[in-house]
Parts: sequence; structure tokens; C-alpha cells
Amino acid sequence: MQTADIQRRWLDFFGQRGHTVVPSASLVSDDPTLLFTVAGMVPFIPYLTGLVPPPVPRATSVQKCIRTLDIDEVGKTTRHGTFFQMNGNFSFGDYFKEQAIAYAWELLTTPERDGGLGFDEKDLWVTVYEDDDEAAGFWKKIAGLPDERIQRMGKADNYWHTGQSGPAGPCSEIYVDRGPAYGPDGGPAVDDTRYIEIWNLVFMQYLIDDVTSKTDFRIVSELPRKNIDTGMGMERVAFLKQGVENFYEIDQVRPVLDRAAELSGRRYGANHDDDVRMRVIADHVRSSLMLMSDGVTPSNEGRGYILRRLMRRTVRAMRLLGVEDPTFTELFPASRDAMKASYPEVETEFDRISRLAIGEEEAFLRTLASGTNILDLAVAKTKSDGAEQLPGDTAFLLHDTFGFPIDLTLEMADEAGLSVDRDAFDKLMADQRARAKADAKARKTTLADLSVYSAFRAQGETVFTGYEYLQTESSVLGLIVGGESVSRAVTGDIAEVILAETSLYAESGGQESDAGSIVGAGFDLEVLDVQRPVKGLISHKVQVRAGEVGVGDAATSVVDPAWRQAATQAHSATHLIHAALRQTLGPDAHQAGSYNKAGYMRLDFNWNKPLSPETRTEIEEIANNAVHENLEVVTRIMPLDEARQLGAMALFGEKYGQTVRVVDIGGPWSRELCAGTHVSRSAEVGLINLISESSIGSSNRRVESLVGLDAFRDLATERTIVSQLTSTMKTPREQLPERIADLMASLKAAEKKIAQFESAALSGRVPSITETATRLGENTVVLENIGEIASADDIRSLAIAVRERLGSDAAVVALAGSVSGKPAIIVATNAAARANGVKAGALAKLAAGILGGGGGGKDDLAQGGGSNAAAIPAAIDAVRSALVR
Ligand code: ALA
Repeated sequence: MQTADIQRRWLDFFGQRGHTVVPSASLVSDDPTLLFTVAGMVPFIPYLTGLVPPPVPRATSVQKCIRTLDIDEVGKTTRHGTFFQMNGNFSFGDYFKEQAIAYAWELLTTPERDGGLGFDEKDLWVTVYEDDDEAAGFWKKIAGLPDERIQRMGKADNYWHTGQSGPAGPCSEIYVDRGPAYGPDGGPAVDDTRYIEIWNLVFMQYLIDDVTSKTDFRIVSELPRKNIDTGMGMERVAFLKQGVENFYEIDQVRPVLDRAAELSGRRYGANHDDDVRMRVIADHVRSSLMLMSDGVTPSNEGRGYILRRLMRRTVRAMRLLGVEDPTFTELFPASRDAMKASYPEVETEFDRISRLAIGEEEAFLRTLASGTNILDLAVAKTKSDGAEQLPGDTAFLLHDTFGFPIDLTLEMADEAGLSVDRDAFDKLMADQRARAKADAKARKTTLADLSVYSAFRAQGETVFTGYEYLQTESSVLGLIVGGESVSRAVTGDIAEVILAETSLYAESGGQESDAGSIVGAGFDLEVLDVQRPVKGLISHKVQVRAGEVGVGDAATSVVDPAWRQAATQAHSATHLIHAALRQTLGPDAHQAGSYNKAGYMRLDFNWNKPLSPETRTEIEEIANNAVHENLEVVTRIMPLDEARQLGAMALFGEKYGQTVRVVDIGGPWSRELCAGTHVSRSAEVGLINLISESSIGSSNRRVESLVGLDAFRDLATERTIVSQLTSTMKTPREQLPERIADLMASLKAAEKKIAQFESAALSGRVPSITETATRLGENTVVLENIGEIASADDIRSLAIAVRERLGSDAAVVALAGSVSGKPAIIVATNAAARANGVKAGALAKLAAGILGGGGGGKDDLAQGGGSNAAAIPAAIDAVRSALVR
């Protein structure tokens, strides 16, 4: 049974039983607390928690998932994959335990010819949460399972949550017994390799937070409804049904493993370590392919870092198989071909994906080379120090900066006959993780914070009228102060206001929220921010400027028209620049994010080298030409599929099945999915002034522009500066660059000459200073105040020159001078004087103390300074006295 066949059977089964079939959401989770979609339920979290009323009572999906927590297990066990597909059926307050168990049993045990999965009843075992008698009872009643095949387990196994604040509940897992050849009897409680978990039924009934581990969390409240969330591991079912040994040998994964075997000339099944490496490669290549097809690009943080790590581990595993040359050109197409039946986008996006992958592999191979140099140096140093352990911070540097997996460092150190200070390395890693965690914690909003919105959201979506109207009369549905729902807010309060309808645009799609106010009889609220804390609900953060506002009051939202006009120009300019970028650089210049507000826009895109000045100008010109052409702007609402067929560019993470807004500028000239506000004809944008282009980390760049009046003002400022320059330089503006270059060149020549004169003048002073030499005890000494001088460096040059001139008999030179009113002293000694016990550092320190400052240095040359130039004679006297003694 092919994986795609299992998928079809699943969706048919639940579709026929009243479940709405929902296509997989992106791997990039739009839940801010989760980096990736880690389970089938992730896209449904707002419905499961009750934050957003569920649109349907039941749903089913086959969801793409990424989990990298167990990355070290990949390849070693039969069932750990970083990318996998989770088949789920969901009930939002509709059916509960009994029906969920009945459906699972029916699908698993219905024969294949009747559309089921055809498992043998006698091979199936289940677990339930320790005190869940109810679930155990249903398994008995529905499936007729004997008591010994219903095992009870604790929180660690049979209580499910995402690892973050959110919905949770006890669960019941279904296992398939692979037979005595795979391990001892006794069920999943005894052996989870022989008994493979294939399906988890979660009875979701609580909201939890403060999650610190699988078993440690706080139950906040009961959910408003009892829900069902299930997850069947499609790859696990596939490997059982395909009669192969593990996850990595199924139809969607095996071809990559085979390709890795061919490339390395080693046979799969011949050597355990090599087998593990081949499985790692097959898994990681597939995960990387799927991540990149969902728009993730390799980088040093967040999702991009995880992708980078997967690819680097792949390169590493290939090297351990003896292949040092690049192999991604071979491995990625193999994975594409295995995945395209289920995910056509891996084929349509393949050019881009492949280029990213190849670039990443090349870069890592280079990094490996430089990291190896660092490691070699550290190895040599460790050995010359007579140590046997490479320091932990070297391993950490290699990991952190060069992306060396620790096992790579361990192995390479081992080859050199050294071990690695693992404890120190682990500690540095733990510190880094703690920092990242503290960071994440500081950023995230908790679900408890969000729950205050659910009552308002339950009354329906906030209607946004701002595409047509800059003012809308409506009423206050709710007020929130300090996270609590309140009935009134008074002058000075910072509050959130929920209106039934609003003209004020909430920040989204890169467009900043509108500036404006909310007014009514007896109150005036200044709008500080507008957000959608929960899908469908708009919340206005305001400061009460005057009066008092209450729930139920009539209120009018008023957008600042000048702000909106400029914001709208900026957003349309963003689309024009995006289109111009793609026309100039080609379709690989993928948008990676954008931000725009009144008068300003920036756009980030995937590109791995700086744009030349010509390219920059070309992009700016294409965009401004589109402004000049006065293209018509048309916005339409349509189903996502239709928009895609029209070629609309969407950012990844859009949900399938939804209706979307398509914004065209000049028909297909620029066509994007976008909820922002736009001008009605391109000429209204006015002017786009591309002010910068810069790197924002590996393979991403950013362009920034000023738009409309702000663009004009910036150019006007530049004109003023240029006209000042033309009048100062008395040169027409075309000749300014040349004129300034000439000036710079003659200035340089003049400076060189001055330096020569100065040095000649300085040398000229050496003989007369040397003539002041007298004998003091065992040494010849020159102790002089040389007066005003340009720099302490000049004093030093003089002191050294005088010392030279005094020859090899014991000589001490102490010259003091005043540099811009501040005293400085240089003391120089020659070898014979040092043999007499004279130390320049000590003398400079002594003198500096008298000058009101500090000083010191080596025995042969030292410097001191201070604040009191009048004390120079006293300082010289002190040096003299010190030399007498
Ligand atoms: N959400 C549950 C899981 O991921 C079904 O196991």
C-alpha cells in the first residue's frame, strides 16, 4: 500500500463520516509560540482552545509536520523522522471518546478491499491514561479487547500537549505488534520497538501553561468544549503495510537512501553505522526539501537554522560514507521524485529549492575547510601544551560559528589522538539554550492573555470598512485594561477597544496599523496601535485623551487621512518594487518579508550577493516607470486556488481553501495576494526613491525606499546639499565628483609633504637636545622639557633618536612636553642603563604621578601623562633625583 493510498483511504473514510477535509497547512506555523507545525492539530489550535468559534464541528487532514527534538534518534530507531505526515480527525465539541475510539477501530480493522487499512485485530494493543476507566471501558465494549491488551500508562506516555501553553488532555494510543521476532512479549509497556505506536487519540479537555516538561505543567482551566484530536503516523503505517523494516524504507523515502548508497559505492544493509548514515541522509534531505518548498531558507536563526542544520548533517553523513564531493544535485531530485505525487509544489518550486540547496552545500563545504583549519590549530596548541583534551570553547566555537556538529569535532579530535572537554562544551551549549529560552519567553504572549478576547470573538468577526471609508460609526463591544475586560475607561487610561466595525487598518501583511482616533459623545481616544490578537478580531490600543468611554457607547473610528494616504502609497510601492525586482533578477528573488508605513517601505528577499549600482538603478527605474504609466489597480476577492491559477504571488503560510484578496497593478504586471490598502492608480504613488540595499544575513537582502512626498523631500534635501557644494567648490554639479576627487588627491599630497617637513624639523632638534647630556651617577642622562609639541608620538621619536645618538654607554633619556596644553613624558633607556638597574616604566610612572596622571611601560621605553603642564619641571626633577639614588 503506497503512502499516497493510505492518505486517500484516510480522507475518504473521515470525509464520508461528516468531516470537512482540510488540506495541509504550511510547515511554517502561524502560531507565534511554535516554530513549525509539529502536529496535525496545530492549524486548529484556536478552535480547540475555543478562542475562535470553530467553523465546522468535525474536520480531517493529512498534515505535514516537522519535529527535530529527537534528531539524534534519526536512523537509529525504526520510527523517528524529522519530517512526517500526521493523519488526523478532529471534533470540536462534537463527538468525544466513544466515537473517536469507534472510528479508529473501524478504519484500522476494515479489510483493505473494503477501503480500510486491513490490520489484524489480534495484532492491535492500546494504552490509556492511568485513571481513564472510561476509555478502557470503550475499548472493551467497542473492540472487545481483553484487559491485558489495554495497558495503563502515566503522564509521560499518555497525556498529550504541544510542549507549549495550549490545549491538552489524556490520550489513548494504538500499537501494532510486529511479532516475537522483534522483541519480548508484554505489550507496549514492555517494548516499543516490537509494538509500534501508530495512532494517538487525544481527549482534549484542558488549557495548560507553564509547561517545563512532558509531565510538568499547570492546568489553567477546562476547555469550553471537549474536543478530539487524533494523529496517525502515516509513515509508520506505511512501513508496516509495505512490509519493510522501518520509516526510511517506505516509497517516499527509500529512493534517496538508495541514491546515497550508489553515490558512496556502499551497500545498504552491510554495516550498521553506514545504514544509520544513509537513513539520516534520506530523512534530512526530504525534510529540507519540504521546508524549502514552504519558503524556509537556510540562515543562522530560528527555522532557517534548523534547515541549515539538517543540510549540514546530511553533508557530514555523506562524508562519513566516504563522499567528499557535493551530492545535493543528486540527492534532492531523488527526493523530489518520491514526494511530488503527494506535494506537486516540490516540482514547481524545484529550481529555486535546488539552487538554495546547492548554494548551501557549497558554502558548508567551504566552512568545513576553514573550520578544519581552526581545529588543526587548536589540536597543535593542545599538544604543544602537553594536554590531551581539546578545550570546550574550541568545540563550541566550531559548533556555533562553523556549524560543526559536535560528533564531527569529537571524531576529528579523536583522529588526532585527543579527547574533547565535553563538560565545558555542554555547559556552553546549555548557557546558549538558556539565553534563547529566556528570549523566547520574553517575546511570547501567553494563552491566558489571549483568553480575554474569546468572549468578544464569539460575537463574530470585526468588520473592517477601511477599504472604502476613512470614518465609520459603530459601537464599543468591549474594553480591556491591564488584560482584564472592563466596562469603562477614563482620561489617561491606556485601553484596548473592540468595535463592531472599524475603518482603522490593523497591522498585517507588512503594513503598519493606521494612525487615527476613536471619538464619541464625551470621549476622544488616540489610537496607538491596531492589531488582530485573534483571527477575525480587531483590537485598538488607545489612550483616552479626554472624557470617559463605556461598553455600549456609540463610537466613530476616524483614520488620519494624510497618514493613510502615505501608507497606501508605500504599500503599492512595495508591490511595484517587488515586481521590478523579479523582472530584473528573475523569479528566484523571492520575497522574504516586508514592512511599510506612511512614506517608507522595505522589502526583504532571498538573494545571495549585493546588487550592483546599475541593477539598483534599473529596479528603481522600472518601478517609477510603472508609476508614470498610471496603471490601474484592481482588487478582487476569490478562492485561493483560483488566485494561484492566475499566478498571484503569495507568501508561504497562506491557508488553502480560504478566500483571498488579489491585488493587481496593471493587470498581471504585478499580482499579489494582499489584504493591505492600495492606491487606485499607480500614479498616485507619486515617486519611489530607493535609498538603500543591504545584507540581512546569509542569502537575504533588503531594499528600502522612501515613497511619495517623503521621497521628494529626501531628494530636495540632496539637491540643497549639492547646490551648497557647487557654490562652495565653484563647480557645475556634473563636475563635482571629479573636482572633489582632485581635491582629495592634492590634500593627500599636501599632507604627505607636511609630514615630511615635520619629521625633518623634528630630526633637526635631535643634536641640540643631545648636547644637554650630563653625567649623573653611572649614567649619561638627557632630562629636558621640550615645550609645546604636536603629539606624544613626536616626543617618543625624539627620545628614541636621542638615545641612539648617545651610543652604547649607559644612557637615560626623559623628554617631557606639552601636547595641546596637556603634559606628556617619554622615558627611554639603553641596554647598559638597564644593566645598571634603570627601569623606564618606573620612571615614567613616577613622573606621571607628579603631572597628575598615570603612566608606565616596559624597561626600555615608557610613557606618562597628566593634566598639569606646569608640573613638568618638578616631574623632571623627580626623575633626576630617582637616578641619583
Ligand atoms: N496531537 C496528537 C499527537 O501529535 C494527536 O500525537
